Amino acid sequence: MFSGKDALDNFAATIIKEQIEAHSASVLGLATGSTPLGLYDRLQQMHRHGLDFSGVTTFNLDEYLGLSGDHPASYRHYMQEHLFAGINVPKSNIHIPDGTANDVEAECAAYEKAIMAAGGIDIQVTGIGHNGHIGFNEPGTEFGCTTHVVTLDESTRQANARFFDNSLEQVPRQAVTMGIKTIMQARKILLLASGKDKAEAVAGALEGSVTTRLPASVLQLHPRVVVLLDEAAAAGLAHDNPMVKHLA
Ligand code: F6R
Repeated sequence: MFSGKDALDNFAATIIKEQIEAHSASVLGLATGSTPLGLYDRLQQMHRHGLDFSGVTTFNLDEYLGLSGDHPASYRHYMQEHLFAGINVPKSNIHIPDGTANDVEAECAAYEKAIMAAGGIDIQVTGIGHNGHIGFNEPGTEFGCTTHVVTLDESTRQANARFFDNSLEQVPRQAVTMGIKTIMQARKILLLASGKDKAEAVAGALEGSVTTRLPASVLQLHPRVVVLLDEAAAAGLAHDNPMVKHLA
């Protein structure tokens, strides 16, 4: 018997497994934060049972500006600890924006080029912020933007202080993120959300108007989005939505 979050993690992992089994050279877009931890756990288990990631290429959504990969709160560090250490994606196939690049604009342009050179993203995994952000595209971000530098909202810094010993001071003020256009170019998008604190953002994103005030609402315009919610995160939805899989 699974709890809601377990079912969600298993479902998401199965979608990715099927993608890799169908195309060993798949390109995955990956997220960090609390939400995908269970998914990454399952993918490691699947690898132990034979799922081969040796042909897979990955691109992460974002990274804090100024944090090197060995900083314990950097997203590179997170990915190594929570996923890459337990699967066999070749190191050279792993892409995470370099938050310490001297020329960050050039880094953003190179990131876009690398995604294109890899043939584009087959499945992009994303969570959602309390303010509706996807990646670190905060409210107000133009839908047409590609990988760029952002100033984080105070609410985002507060929400993420838990990864910095609960010290808001230590949370960087800026980050590099794939843009909304970059995310929307993925062939399939997997939006994961759990917990009642996400219910309002989820309802706004799926049932509200499409607006830059709630960046995740842009997903309504994507033809292949799968939204995986536990009951708490789905609690604000008024309608059945074909994109949504309720996993109690
Ligand atoms: C992480 C990311 C963010 C998170 C979002 C939700 O790479 O881009 O958009 O997905 O902030 O974070 P959690 O899962 O920690 O609630």
